Amino acid sequence: MKERINDLNEKFQEATVGEVLSWFLNEFKGKIALSSSLGAEDQVLTEMVTGIDKEATVFTLDTGRLFPETYDLIHRTNTRYGIKIKVFFPEASRVEEMVGEKGINLFYESIENRKLCCHIRKIEPLKRAFKGLDVWICGLRRDQSVTRHDMKLVEWDEANGLIKLNPLIEWTEKDVWDYINENKIPYNPLHDKGYPSIGCQPCTRAIMKGEDVRAGRWWWENPDTKECGLHKR
Ligand code: ADX
Ligand code: SF4
Repeated sequence: MKERINDLNEKFQEATVGEVLSWFLNEFKGKIALSSSLGAEDQVLTEMVTGIDKEATVFTLDTGRLFPETYDLIHRTNTRYGIKIKVFFPEASRVEEMVGEKGINLFYESIENRKLCCHIRKIEPLKRAFKGLDVWICGLRRDQSVTRHDMKLVEWDEANGLIKLNPLIEWTEKDVWDYINENKIPYNPLHDKGYPSIGCQPCTRAIMKGEDVRAGRWWWENPDTKECGLHKR
């Protein structure tokens, strides 16, 4: 599959997001899933994906530290689209061991601790979510951060051995919000309170005018290293 990446990028150079999603959902039926954090981009993709194939899998990683608004949005999204977003949890024993050794809010103490927490609460469950999949769909956009500038529409996820599809790669924040408003898509109310990018509650804060959209994520860290490991490149 790895050898198909260049051809696929070429094939879809001029295509719309709808065309890209329709082709992939058909070509990889049963082996493709949308990975949703319930963020604005993922809500756009949920609307599009379920509009093309109601049976397509949408999953989310519940780290146990999400905002209450995010849990409500899982419920509202399921109701709106008549779907059941599949929820993956971390291994209880791994979380208990980590918290027992390093404390409940270990992530503020060092980057190493923060990465360990992300690993146990997100990466391990994500690996389970990948079972049987050939493609995962993500809501990354190129202009979200310095770590995302050189992304492609179709990428080979070397760490996990499957295709990663970034349909909204060329969309701007305005494109996302125009689409949400036009289609009355349910979204997280925190977006209206200064949170463009929403992750776990203790690791996300509101941003100030003019700040980078991901400035509120792990705000105490350097922008060049701020990825949780979900999007290793
Ligand atoms: S993160 O790596 O910093 O957390 P970000 O919040 O920008 O990522 O989201 C980028 C994409 O990663 C989302 O569009 C989604 O596809 C995926 N993603 C992030 N967090 C989750 C999650 N908790 N569950 C499922 N997918 C997620
Ligand atoms: Fe843990 Fe914070 Fe990573 Fe969530 S974002 S998994 S709370 S370190």
